[in-house]
Amino acid sequence: MAIDSDYFRGKNVVVTGAASGVGLALIEELLGFGAAKAVLADFNRDNLERHTARLEQSYPGQVKGVLCDVTSESQVTDLIEQAAEFSSGRIDLLINNAGAGFGGCFVEPSTETEIVKIMPVVSTEDWRTAFDLNFYGAMYGCRAVIPIMQAQGGGQIINVISGIAFVPMAYQSRYAATKAALNGLTLSLRYEFWDDQIKVSSATPGTTATAIWGDLEIPETAQTAQQSAQRILAGAVKNDRVIFGDDADVSGANQCFSTDPEIMIGLDEYLLNVARQRRTGKIAV
Ligand SMILES: NC(=O)c1ccc[n+]([C@@H]2O[C@H](COP(=O)([O-])OP(=O)(O)OC[C@H]3O[C@@H](n4cnc5c(N)ncnc54)[C@H](O)[C@@H]3O)[C@@H](O)[C@H]2O)c1
Repeated sequence: MAIDSDYFRGKNVVVTGAASGVGLALIEELLGFGAAKAVLADFNRDNLERHTARLEQSYPGQVKGVLCDVTSESQVTDLIEQAAEFSSGRIDLLINNAGAGFGGCFVEPSTETEIVKIMPVVSTEDWRTAFDLNFYGAMYGCRAVIPIMQAQGGGQIINVISGIAFVPMAYQSRYAATKAALNGLTLSLRYEFWDDQIKVSSATPGTTATAIWGDLEIPETAQTAQQSAQRILAGAVKNDRVIFGDDADVSGANQCFSTDPEIMIGLDEYLLNVARQRRTGKIAV
């Protein structure tokens, strides 16, 4: 994908969930595009130390790893303070990327199915855990960085959502709800801070081969984390309102709010088929 790589030259960037997958690829691309300082935040100490040390070899003095659990507001506030200190007070781009997939049955299924073995019934506490990571983690990041960006006269924030925000699949109600909520927060903040020259966008990575899939089979159509990162950054350059990480996400979003009866019926059929296949133990997408 063609990208105006000069856009990122000299910028100070922070990415959460940066010790793996899409977050790590975003950091690598940003450094490759000439970012001045890059802060990797993650709660996986081993991966964080390993990748920070590796990148430090190629970009001496430009990289910092901060151990941070984004479900803790004080840790996120501390992350942003440490990042600002590392980057001479200026943060140009924050990507709130840390997140997880969160499958599960909403309540006990009415009939015996395979899905409960793969995705057990979740509790209200499990719902809070999902919101703590996928929603509040990003919300804390926005709260902490916006005052810095206001004071410096602008900046950019990208909150990583998922195509599931537009195509909510069965047995992933927590994932769909947390990412749709994050999209709502993001697009509202976009206009609240537009006149402060702070660009705010949502980004779906598209179906991407990363550790997020765990033991589940990764779909054949999955792209690499680098491809996903490049597409997200191309959208960042254009300040797209919602950045779509692959073409399937574009089509899902277009269909989501369509009032065309044929499209509405087609989407129902597709999502019902996914639910029924999942009940047989096949994690269809
Ligand atoms: N891979 C996909 O197909 C896909 C599709 C749609 C959306 N996404 C979204 O992309 C983002 C990145 O996911 P990925 O696919 O790279 O997965 P990944 O598992 O490879 O990376 C997620 C990273 O977040 C970190 N993390 C998890 N909880 C954390 C916490 N509490 N505090 C700090 N860091 C934490 C993990 O340690 C990991 O390094 C997520 O928000 C995910 O929901 C991924």
